[in-house]
Amino acid sequence: MTAGFVPPPYPHDRLEGLKEVAAGHPDGRGLVDLSIGTPFDPPADAVIAALATSGAERGYPTSIGSPRLREAAAGWLARRFAVTIEPSQLAACVGTKEWVATTPHWLRLRRPDRDTVLYPATSYPTYAMGATLADCRAVPYRDLAAVAEEDAGRALCLWVNSPSNPTGALTDLGAVAAWGRARGVPVLSDECYAEFTWEGPPRTILEHGTDGVLAAHSLSKRSNLAGVRAGFYAGDGDLVAYLSEVRKHAGFMVPGPVQAAASVAFDDDGHVDAQRERYRRRLALLADALGCPTPAGAFYLWVAAPDGDGWGLAARLARQAGCLTSPGEFYGPDGAGHVRVAVVQPDERLAVVVDRLGAGA
Ligand SMILES: Cc1ncc(COP(=O)(O)O)c(C=O)c1O
Repeated sequence: MTAGFVPPPYPHDRLEGLKEVAAGHPDGRGLVDLSIGTPFDPPADAVIAALATSGAERGYPTSIGSPRLREAAAGWLARRFAVTIEPSQLAACVGTKEWVATTPHWLRLRRPDRDTVLYPATSYPTYAMGATLADCRAVPYRDLAAVAEEDAGRALCLWVNSPSNPTGALTDLGAVAAWGRARGVPVLSDECYAEFTWEGPPRTILEHGTDGVLAAHSLSKRSNLAGVRAGFYAGDGDLVAYLSEVRKHAGFMVPGPVQAAASVAFDDDGHVDAQRERYRRRLALLADALGCPTPAGAFYLWVAAPDGDGWGLAARLARQAGCLTSPGEFYGPDGAGHVRVAVVQPDERLAVVVDRLGAGA
């Protein structure tokens, strides 16, 4: 029998040991979990009300997303980024993780002559996993200029993520779009942290035209709705038509009540402005306590370990500050000298971390 695919351990499942250490902090105030980028703040009331009152439970929802949802998403793109996207250039996804993990597979079925997925060297692990699930080569890049032409010639797609998880760095999306167009490589731009851009305005690759590019957006972070699973992708009409058709066959559907709630969330920016202020305040508070820079975007601190040992720093933070963080190795070998700290917990829990760091130098 030949060896088949064996899924690797899920990154956060590797934190069990550190979790125990952090939970056992001697001051008895418990674990402060800053390891996962999962929101703790409440979603908007109107969004929750829409979940319960849509009446959309009974029938199957459309895979592409209801006209109401697609209009709301297009309206948000127009307000936030001043881009005009036709409804036919936009489709729903069940949160963006499944879209990131499955899109290379669908693209490969269409272009079996291409077997390579290019993705940022320090990044969200699902880009590489999506390549593996598509039976493709996962090829990380540090810099677009350094991508070998041979790899570009075999590339099914190139991922970009700005603001970046985990580093918070911003990318010149116009340059990436131009790189992809020059080589005929579709650019998939994961923009789920766009609302949390601290340096300059929020950006989308769609500002640079839609040919050969797709932008993915999510309500998980923007609207504290990770639990309802709602997002969309938009851009190149031909790619959207192909992907939305395949995904319909495969049965990907955002539940009807979720589509109704997502429409309400995309219509409103006030709750996002309030969330931006929370994250901005928390980033400043913890950056100061940890002695690290604040990011250009997203809600993570990317903290360099003084001795280059990210796991060692994560262990020290668990012991000393009772907080769980993510060793940078989760985001690729280049990240091994860092830890990622998600400032998602309420202010009073972050104050516990700050207090412990001050006490236990
Ligand atoms: C860069 C990036 N992309 C996509 C996702 C997936 O988010 P969701 O599936 O909740 O939309 C995350 C979640 O942490 C992320 O950090």
